[in-house]
Amino acid sequence: MGIGATAGVAAAGGFALSAQASGGSGARASGASGALAFDKDAYTELTTTITDAAGDKHEVKYHFYKAITYVTKPVDEKYQSLNVSVPVEIDGKAVDATGAPILLANSVGGYMPSSVAEATGVGGGEMTGGPGGGATGGASASPSTSASASSGTGTGGVQSGGNAMVNAQGEMVNLGKLALVTGYVVVEPGARGRTLVDSDGTYYGTAPAAIVDLKAAVRYVRANKGRIPGNTDRIVSSGTSAGGALSALLGASGDSPLYDTYLKELGAADASDAVFASGDWCPITDLEHADMAYEWNWGANKLSSGSLVDRTVSKELSTAFADYQASLKLRAKGFGTVTARNLDEYLVKTYLEPSATKYLAALSDSARATYLAANTFITWSGGKATFSWADFLTHVGARKKDTPAFDAFDLSSGENNLFGTGTTKARHFTLYSLRHEGSASARLPGDLPGKIDLMNPMHFIAKRNPARSKHWWIRVGTKDSDTSLTVVGNLALSLENLGDDVDAFMYWDGAHGSNEDPADFMAWIAKVTGYKKRSAK
Ligand code: DHB
Repeated sequence: MGIGATAGVAAAGGFALSAQASGGSGARASGASGALAFDKDAYTELTTTITDAAGDKHEVKYHFYKAITYVTKPVDEKYQSLNVSVPVEIDGKAVDATGAPILLANSVGGYMPSSVAEATGVGGGEMTGGPGGGATGGASASPSTSASASSGTGTGGVQSGGNAMVNAQGEMVNLGKLALVTGYVVVEPGARGRTLVDSDGTYYGTAPAAIVDLKAAVRYVRANKGRIPGNTDRIVSSGTSAGGALSALLGASGDSPLYDTYLKELGAADASDAVFASGDWCPITDLEHADMAYEWNWGANKLSSGSLVDRTVSKELSTAFADYQASLKLRAKGFGTVTARNLDEYLVKTYLEPSATKYLAALSDSARATYLAANTFITWSGGKATFSWADFLTHVGARKKDTPAFDAFDLSSGENNLFGTGTTKARHFTLYSLRHEGSASARLPGDLPGKIDLMNPMHFIAKRNPARSKHWWIRVGTKDSDTSLTVVGNLALSLENLGDDVDAFMYWDGAHGSNEDPADFMAWIAKVTGYKKRSAK
């Protein structure tokens, strides 16, 4: 599980779970009382070897707090629990993480349930079941690499979820481990997911369960200020794909009262659930607009089978996207209002050409010449890559998903399941697919519009939520057709338009789940949080 984790010496206390379950050991922290008071003595001391982002190995001694239930009235503790890892010694030198930033690394993938309860160390979060998501395209939602996971057990069984990121060399990237070796505190929360069903056949992990759980985890950490190691006002959230969407949602929806009744029902701590910064890799978000966006972006591309998608459906959705894009009223320097008419050029100039330029500039002269010879659509001049949107689309090739990409007509997508409720496994969540299958005047069930909002960071950005994160790290690979590149572009631009600090970049030729600059992310955390590492004593 944890790379090279060696069994540590058990310290005082037992596992946090039993300490918590005993209903309060008399400890009281500000905001957290009784069962939700963090017991700082209930850790196991572990030693592990972590390879940092530069490839150097370090021995890290850390305190591991395992499977702490973060609400007083859990529906399923297996998912509603978190692990905390606190570095105490790196390469034999004492580390004081008292004021360190806290990385809240979720391991959600495919909007599936994720659990850390069985993890034996940092970075061991697991997503049960196969990777989810993929709609009618049916392709796997896991990174398209053969790299084997350092955590998780491969296909079929339990897989690592949001931890399943790969760098440009195809090696696994685990942000929890990297944060720990950087000297940060790492909190790994589990969360309910869409496939959970109880013995009565009731789905109990569909929307908005996962975001409610992650918010409850944030509240738990913040309620334990002064007790839990690290700076609880410097929580940086991270996640990939569905986990990236939830990380963006945590960032955008901080302290929104819209979740209050759900949080109360779980017995979440009475504290702020705002996070300081949000790191979001290939977020599968803005779901109710994602079918339209997908056709606008990838509509002309064939499926990997070689067949074209339904032209009528693709065209209708793509046409509808123009209205949506206009409604966002986004502005970009040099482009004015970004509409469906100039969005292609905006993406090319803002993301795609800079991405290709960075990639090509880093190659040796001969490797660059080879790449350019194989990709003649790129003009390389004066150290800069230029090309057209149409040629870029051809370069990406097969689209991953059939149309509609998310709200599948036959209710087969992961997102249909995400919006299931009660004993209903899956529902439509767009009028387009609902009416395509039913009457032309069909309406969404009454509970859905509100739940759809609760799953979409764009809703809270449009409302200029004042308690949102003001610092954003947003990444996606240019070959990632799990969703439209406009989803990422619009998320970043809408935040920029609010004046937030946004570091957004696309990895050239990167597939779904790419994370090619994890060391930069660690440095960015120090920069935005203002953290200066101090060694103890
Ligand atoms: C994920 C991928 C998808 O294509 C999707 O629709 C939802 C989630 C994922 O990898 O988490």
